[in-house]
Amino acid sequence: MLENIPETFIGMRNKEFRVLVAIENMMKFHEWVPVEEIVNFTGYNLKEIEFIISHLAQKKLINKKVLGYDGYSIYFEAYDLLALNAFVKRGTINAIGDLLGIGKESVVYAATGGITDRELAIKFHTEGKISFKHVRLKREHMVDKKHISWLYASRLAARKEYDALRLLYPHVNVPEPIDHNRNAIVMSVLKGQMLAHTKVNDPEWFLEEILTQVKKAMQLGIIHGDLSEFNIVVNPEGCQIFDWPQYITPEHPNAIEILTRDVQNILAFFLKKYRVKRDSQEVINSVIELCQK
Ligand SMILES: Nc1ncnc2c1ncn2[C@@H]1O[C@H](COP(=O)(O)OP(=O)(O)O)[C@@H](O)[C@H]1O
Ligand SMILES: [Mg+2]
Repeated sequence: MLENIPETFIGMRNKEFRVLVAIENMMKFHEWVPVEEIVNFTGYNLKEIEFIISHLAQKKLINKKVLGYDGYSIYFEAYDLLALNAFVKRGTINAIGDLLGIGKESVVYAATGGITDRELAIKFHTEGKISFKHVRLKREHMVDKKHISWLYASRLAARKEYDALRLLYPHVNVPEPIDHNRNAIVMSVLKGQMLAHTKVNDPEWFLEEILTQVKKAMQLGIIHGDLSEFNIVVNPEGCQIFDWPQYITPEHPNAIEILTRDVQNILAFFLKKYRVKRDSQEVINSVIELCQK
């Protein structure tokens, strides 16, 4: 994750982006992309490319390895910038602002976009960046291309989250999905306070609201898979559930188990913080019923 995505982005030139795209593309075929491939892809001459490469290396966006030849690969940070550039080019966003949050496997920035300069959020997925081994275990098909598995893993996660939001919105209270590119998605800004960090006056009502959303998602064939007080915000109108990249469908072999865990997390939270007691088996059964329909 780039510490200062906005600043680095502003300093980027078009030709630098073009060279990054060239390396990104050629990494499908080479662990270390030879400079000739960059020449072929971009059509720029060698001198110019060497100049651009030295700037990209200075910004820590690319890595160089001297083998029999000089080979290059992009860093994760470059991937973030390429996604951001795609959003800017197609007019999804026109400005990027402050950091909104850092998650287990993501970093989220404020942005504005559209013709109305609407406030938006960009979530850059970082799956595969921190725990490379973990990702490999989950995605065996990537082993043969392990030098780009982080690129696939983070893109897949973003794509999955975007797909989930597209299916759920507006039937379930989730952020509105706006756009997707590479490892990033653009969505509406969450409305409210994180459930974990606030105190509500009417916990029974909020618990019911959350369970209603879980059931609606279930009816659309989506089980969150990482539901907790850290992935829910509450506001006077109700709640919003976010962070969907690990969602599963009712056909998943462990669907019931994962759904049960989701519901139990929420019941346990309301019991501990607000002393709201619900017959957990009854609640779980009422959701599982929907799962089996
Ligand atoms: N749409 C959004 N609007 C505002 N803040 C957001 C939005 N999505 C995520 N965030 C912030 O970023 C943090 C991490 O996002 P999250 O989707 O939970 O990712 P992770 O999978 O890394 O936990 C959240 O806790 C929240 O503070
Ligand atoms: Mg989260």
